[in-house]
Amino acid sequence: MERRAKIVCTIGPASGGAKRLRQLLDAGMNVARLNFSHGSPAEHRAVFDRLRKLDDGVAIMQDLAGPKIRIGEIEGGQARLREGGVFVLTTKAVAGNAEGAHVDYRFRPGDVKAGDDLYLSDGSIHLKVERVAGREIRCRIVDGGVLTSRKGLNVPRLRIGSSLSAKDAADLEFGLAMGVDCVAVSFVTCAADVRRVKRVVGQRKSPALVVAKIEKESALGRLDGIVEAADAIMIARGDLGVEIALERVPVVQKEIVVLCREKGKPVIVATQMLESMTASERPTRAEASDVANAVFDGADALMLSAETAAGTFPVESVCVMDRIIREAERWERRALQDECSSGLPWPPRDLAEAACAAAARTAASSGARAIACLTRTGRTARLIARYRPAATRIVALTDDRRVMRQMNLVWGTETIHIDRIDRTDAIFPLVKERLRAAGIRGLVVLAAGIPIPEKGSTNTVHLLKC
Ligand code: PGA
Ligand code: MN
Repeated sequence: MERRAKIVCTIGPASGGAKRLRQLLDAGMNVARLNFSHGSPAEHRAVFDRLRKLDDGVAIMQDLAGPKIRIGEIEGGQARLREGGVFVLTTKAVAGNAEGAHVDYRFRPGDVKAGDDLYLSDGSIHLKVERVAGREIRCRIVDGGVLTSRKGLNVPRLRIGSSLSAKDAADLEFGLAMGVDCVAVSFVTCAADVRRVKRVVGQRKSPALVVAKIEKESALGRLDGIVEAADAIMIARGDLGVEIALERVPVVQKEIVVLCREKGKPVIVATQMLESMTASERPTRAEASDVANAVFDGADALMLSAETAAGTFPVESVCVMDRIIREAERWERRALQDECSSGLPWPPRDLAEAACAAAARTAASSGARAIACLTRTGRTARLIARYRPAATRIVALTDDRRVMRQMNLVWGTETIHIDRIDRTDAIFPLVKERLRAAGIRGLVVLAAGIPIPEKGSTNTVHLLKC
């Protein structure tokens, strides 16, 4: 059985060259993430072109920087902040050191006040605000550490005006013109943040999917609307784990995965999955468990960040993640033989949902080898995948290459390219022929919209022998 959960790799200095990209693809990368918080548009373009040349099937995700507050340059590149000392954040253009640094955001009155907690460097340095005076925030260092240039500053509870920054807007235009398959939106706080980006995507007539990154406390209260508005979700645990109490992250992860499956939206679990592999050839046992547990939670995709972008072992990280996922899935197949025969967790809300539920059930009860579907937009495949049919392959047949690439985010789904079908009676021989060519023999459940040339929703479950 193929691996079902997909792997997203962040591309950076450690992996942007043609040779490394080839190795990542061979190791199992399904989606390449271009992180626009770092690197120039020209650099991302070069990676994009290299990747497309190497593999037309891999999905490419643009990740917009979003309103992340950052400190400026640190003199000499780094400084050690000592517990108990004073640290001053200022909007003035000063070079940073162990006593203070420039911050690239002008706080409004009331944004921060004495007693607030601030975090630098993904939460590794903890500051407590003592006094806010004009352009300066004077803090006491609660937990010290080494601070390097341009690190992020987290201000939990702060809601930054949600309009797209000039940089994000320009990056988005750039990414859409380049032809990215999906766009990730950072620090989403409500459905409107997602819709704003979807509007631009629509205006540019781009089919790119919009991925909402959940990494603010304020997003958690509005999850329903955000998941509804987005095409996919990323549980961005890096910032999320600083913005909310760390101990809530595992629980929030479970809740978001359940919600996304209910709504038929792909969900990515991200950040620090194999963090120690940035510098070590082997992960910790806890990291191996984290990867496996994301699989057990039911995530569609798992993401590598620094491991592949900047680490010493980018390719090994993908290989290790691939192995852990496969083993977890093998166990799951044995342990939970067919989850989908045990009833329908989500009552269908339309014809397509009902047809896909029936397809998943029929496949489980009939022991089908595969569930195939004809899909124009990918929705039918997503609706089938949410049942996580552990023992049954899912094959999406589509005439749209972009939809094929986007399936790289969807659990367990393989794709086959077909030409446009214009007659209903052409479907069955074609599907049979293509599935056989893909090595599928035996009973197959097909979900499709019939009659054909009309672009309607999926309404038919058909059994065929391949
Ligand atoms: P980032 O997003 O890597 O762009 O910060 C992921 C996260 O915050 O976990
Ligand atoms: Mn983030």
